[in-house]
Amino acid sequence: MGSKYHAFLFPWFAFGHMTAFLHLANKLAEKGHKITLLLPKRVLKQLEPLNLFPKSIVFHILTIPSVDGLPDGAETTADIPITLEGFLASAMDRTRGQVEEAVRFGKPDLIFFDFAHWIPEVAREYGAKCVNYLTISAACVAISFVPGRSPDDCAVPPPGYPSSKVLLRGQEANILSFLSYPFGDGVTFYERIMTGLANCDVISIRTCREIEGKFCDFIEKEFQRKVLFTGPMLPEPDNIKPLENRWNHWLNRFEPGSVVYCSLGSQIILEKEEFQELCLGMELTGLPFLVAVKPPKGASTVQEALPEGFEERVKERGVVSGEWVQQPMILAHPSIGCFVSHCGFGSMWESLLSDCQIVLIPHLGEQIFNTRLMSEELEVSVEVKREETGWFSKENISGAVRSVMDKDTELGNLVRRNHAKLKESLLSSGVISGYVSKYVEALEKLV
Ligand SMILES: *[C@@H]1O[C@H](CO)[C@@H](O)[C@H](O)[C@H]1NC(C)=O
Repeated sequence: MGSKYHAFLFPWFAFGHMTAFLHLANKLAEKGHKITLLLPKRVLKQLEPLNLFPKSIVFHILTIPSVDGLPDGAETTADIPITLEGFLASAMDRTRGQVEEAVRFGKPDLIFFDFAHWIPEVAREYGAKCVNYLTISAACVAISFVPGRSPDDCAVPPPGYPSSKVLLRGQEANILSFLSYPFGDGVTFYERIMTGLANCDVISIRTCREIEGKFCDFIEKEFQRKVLFTGPMLPEPDNIKPLENRWNHWLNRFEPGSVVYCSLGSQIILEKEEFQELCLGMELTGLPFLVAVKPPKGASTVQEALPEGFEERVKERGVVSGEWVQQPMILAHPSIGCFVSHCGFGSMWESLLSDCQIVLIPHLGEQIFNTRLMSEELEVSVEVKREETGWFSKENISGAVRSVMDKDTELGNLVRRNHAKLKESLLSSGVISGYVSKYVEALEKLV
């Protein structure tokens, strides 16, 4: 038996990252380790229910400093438009004093981080080891973060990049220009991630060899260090709490596998026209649907932004909600047959481990890589077709949904078969828990 350790976890202030770190905390706690998770205050309400080991996992609250340009009270990416995230990064960096204080007092053996590129310095000063725990796909890391390259080259596969269909098309390359923008005080997004990768003791990625092995091999070669797989880091199905009554009740009215569930994550705020087109696309499928997205730009509720006459026309079979919903529990409901997703990395794993047909509408750079991995490389999903300008019409949405939901279409059968096969290989006994055990053991050797 390895020794038990005390780990600090310090994720980027975005829900996808914080929940991935909390799932990791649960796995570490399950093996008898002690965890301190550093978080802003207002996320506790959403995260506390996901803490399966309250005796071993402690939440340490950080006060988010005010930063010029960051709206008062903003604590996570869900509180701000994406264009302001650099200010939130400054705020995170300015919690360094608080983090060091907590480290001095708590004396962790290990510190896990993703975006806080200065953690390796803190860890070294206080005699801890540090682990870069990346919650983005290895494919995205492999193509975007390559030692010795400029971020301007990021859209082009680097020499030695594994042969794959995970590539950007045409103008999509522009989406990666944010890599060279400031993201925090005096640091670009690119420099932030590269510094963390170059200075950590261990790189680990929330992925599996079955899906991203070749990308991880490439990253190992590029950074000259071992890359550890953590597996998907999702809660075991037994640990999933029951779905809220009103959603359960509503979903129970429909046939098994008939409802389309659409969610675009906590970060994306659509333009009003896009939001309306999405709603109309759902209407056009003719299927029952549940859409959970944030109110579009300029609206304070989703209701006020709905298309003319929409609610009246779909009231028997469609709901649009602006509230945060329990996605894993919704996906596990037998009535859900199709998941329309932005393909953030957390949602990608949740979709893979569900029985739903998967339709993807990526918005951000990383989501496009994930989508290509799913739709082109693994062929387990379809991507909504867009115009060159990025616009998608209601026909493009409903077409994608119908292509996998209509009975016996060639594409629908193909992705269903591939998805089922992959899910089975991931869920076959011991695969996921094997990743966790090997990861935790490797870390025990490190401390
Ligand atoms: C998207 O839908 C429009 C109809 O609204 C259609 O003309 C167009 O060909 C579709 N785009 C793609 C790329 O399939």
